[in-house]
This record gives sequence, C-alpha cells and structure tokens, in this order.
Amino acid sequence: MPKVTFMPMNLTFEAQDGDSLLDVAIANDVPLQHACGGFCACTTCHVIVKSGDEKLSPMEDEEEERLDRAAGVTLHSRLGCQAKVHGDTIVEIQNEGFGH
Ligand code: FES
Repeated sequence: MPKVTFMPMNLTFEAQDGDSLLDVAIANDVPLQHACGGFCACTTCHVIVKSGDEKLSPMEDEEEERLDRAAGVTLHSRLGCQAKVHGDTIVEIQNEGFGH
C-alpha cells in the first residue's frame, strides 16, 4: 500500500491506491484544511510535495488554475483534495489548522 508522510509533523500513514491526500489526512486526523470540502474551490488544502511527485495523479487544468491563486505556490505545489496517491509520497502542509 502507498504511504503518505505529512510534514512538518512527520507522520506517515498507509493509503489506499487512489485516495486523495486529503482523504488520507482526514482518515488519520491530520490537520489539513479543506474549507471547500474538497471540491477544488479554495486553496486551504495546499501542500508542497517533497518527494514522490510522480506517484501522484497528474494535475488537471482546474487544479492548476486554482493553485495559481494560492499563497506561496511552487513547482511542487498540489491541492491535497485533487492529488490522488499511487505510491509513496512526502508532502508538506501549507495551511495547518483544524478546518474540519
Ligand atoms: S479543499 Fe478546497 S481546494 Fe482542496
């Protein structure tokens, strides 16, 4: 099973292939915000991928356009609700909080 590590807390969890990063975070009480409920309509679930970009689902246009509006966006930025896990990855949460 793919493993996802969330930074900066450095917690690693197993995921089901095809889960979004947000699915994995919610299932394990990781404080990854998701103000829009995971519909690619906010940027609170912004993460920066530290390792395993290629293990995530390719970015769709909608995600790319939304991410353009995120603070501190980088070449390795993804929206946690849109990026699906297909292998081991390490991601850094950009907006820590408990926005459940
Ligand atoms: S939760 Fe809003 S864009 Fe991901």
